[in-house]
Amino acid sequence: MTQNLPSVFQVLNRLWDWIKHGLKYMRVYIFPKSLLYRFILIILLPLLILQFVMIIFFYDRHWDTVSRRLASDIVGEIKMLIPTIDNFVETEPDVLTQIFQKTKHYLLLNASFLPNAELTLNFPHKITQVNYALDTLLKEEMDYPYTWKEESNRNISLFIQLEKGVLKVDIPRKRFFSSTIHVFLVWMIGSSILLFWIAFLFMKNQVRAIERLSKASELFGTGHHSIDFKPEGATEVRQAGHSFILMRNRIYKYIMERTEMLAGVSHDLRTPLTRMKLQLSMMPQNEQTTDLLADIAEMEEMLNGYLAFTKGEDKTPPEPIDLNEFLRDLSEKAQKTGQQLDFHAEEKVMIKGRPNDLRRALMNLITNAGRYAHNTQIKLGVRKGMACIFIDDDGPGIPQTKQKDVFKAFFRLDKSRNSKTGGIGLGLTISKDIILSHGGDIQLSNNSALGGLRVIVYLPKA
Ligand SMILES: Nc1ncnc2c1ncn2[C@@H]1O[C@H](COP(=O)(O)OP(=O)(O)OP(=O)(O)O)[C@@H](O)[C@H]1O
Ligand SMILES: [Mg+2]
Repeated sequence: MTQNLPSVFQVLNRLWDWIKHGLKYMRVYIFPKSLLYRFILIILLPLLILQFVMIIFFYDRHWDTVSRRLASDIVGEIKMLIPTIDNFVETEPDVLTQIFQKTKHYLLLNASFLPNAELTLNFPHKITQVNYALDTLLKEEMDYPYTWKEESNRNISLFIQLEKGVLKVDIPRKRFFSSTIHVFLVWMIGSSILLFWIAFLFMKNQVRAIERLSKASELFGTGHHSIDFKPEGATEVRQAGHSFILMRNRIYKYIMERTEMLAGVSHDLRTPLTRMKLQLSMMPQNEQTTDLLADIAEMEEMLNGYLAFTKGEDKTPPEPIDLNEFLRDLSEKAQKTGQQLDFHAEEKVMIKGRPNDLRRALMNLITNAGRYAHNTQIKLGVRKGMACIFIDDDGPGIPQTKQKDVFKAFFRLDKSRNSKTGGIGLGLTISKDIILSHGGDIQLSNNSALGGLRVIVYLPKA
């Protein structure tokens, strides 16, 4: 016995493993993934199974009882008819005819008597549930030989061999058929569908609140700071929504504090730098002072960059902008600085936005193309219902793995800042912030028409 114990445990263990595997398989491949459908599965499935089982049991029992009862009525009535036939068939056929008429009128049984006939045929008949009840009762209670066949969908004909001939009774189906069961079924299925539909609508509403929260978090995560979110739904979801807003405000405040600090430092450093520049220019000029002046100029440039980054968004209300003109204007400005640039618009596109901010955002992208490549091509069109600006260049592009990082503040691919490509790594960060705050999006790819980088800017159309 003790030797067997471990193996019992092993079997149980193995069984448990199988169950776990089965459940895992079901969770991964069979169970629905979305919350809404999981809710429906968890709540409605047991209900539906219960209803189904109830229908089957009730249907079966009810059907059985009703069929037996109806069949027993019919058999009883026919049995009552038989002695009457024996009595009247020879002596008073008219009375018999009258009796048959009454039977048809009151009992819906269409009886006729074929004198001296003999029952030879054994009709094939289908045993359905109804006929089965009738068949069983006839077998139990009918003392004469009989056979019967289904005449049509409406009738069953019963032939009984009596001493003086054959009694034929046409029994209409409605005599042994209860329609209540069908009505009951229709009601049951109908109300189930209605219930299912109501539950679905209510759950959809509940799930929508969670979906909104997840969408808001996702947008916040991708840099959309000014999203409009209002907690709604069940208490728990609402609570999560409030916590999200709290967290968002804290993060936002933290970012603002950091940015303000950077602005403060940049601003304060400019005054001593200006002083140093002034003092240096008054000193006798030699190689060292020239170098120092160049360094100071570079520092000034950096500080200007930091200040531009910390400036935050323009508070002026958005206004209609004709993107064709706007981009043409920017292109001309870039061309004047010596950039090889080509602009082409597929159609006229209007948007709503803050021109100063957008100018800054797009100019950063155009300047990048000028800085890291030789030729630039700008194309304006409409894609997915949004205004779409493609800025292509023939530079080295940005490796796929770095395309997310370059949007981070102070991130540069070429870490050694040289005078030719010397930026501070804030251009793309600023551009992205501005574009997202306009409800747009910015993407990078290496599918440039010119072989370098392609920047795609989406902006909502006016
Ligand atoms: N068109 C481009 N082709 C190749 N690399 C690019 C291009 N645009 C940006 N990059 C890479 O992405 C980095 C980040 O660009 P970003 O514009 O943010 O900063 P920056 O140009 O270095 O400095 P600045 O703040 O002056 O714009 C750049 O340092 C560069 O390595
Ligand atoms: Mg740049």
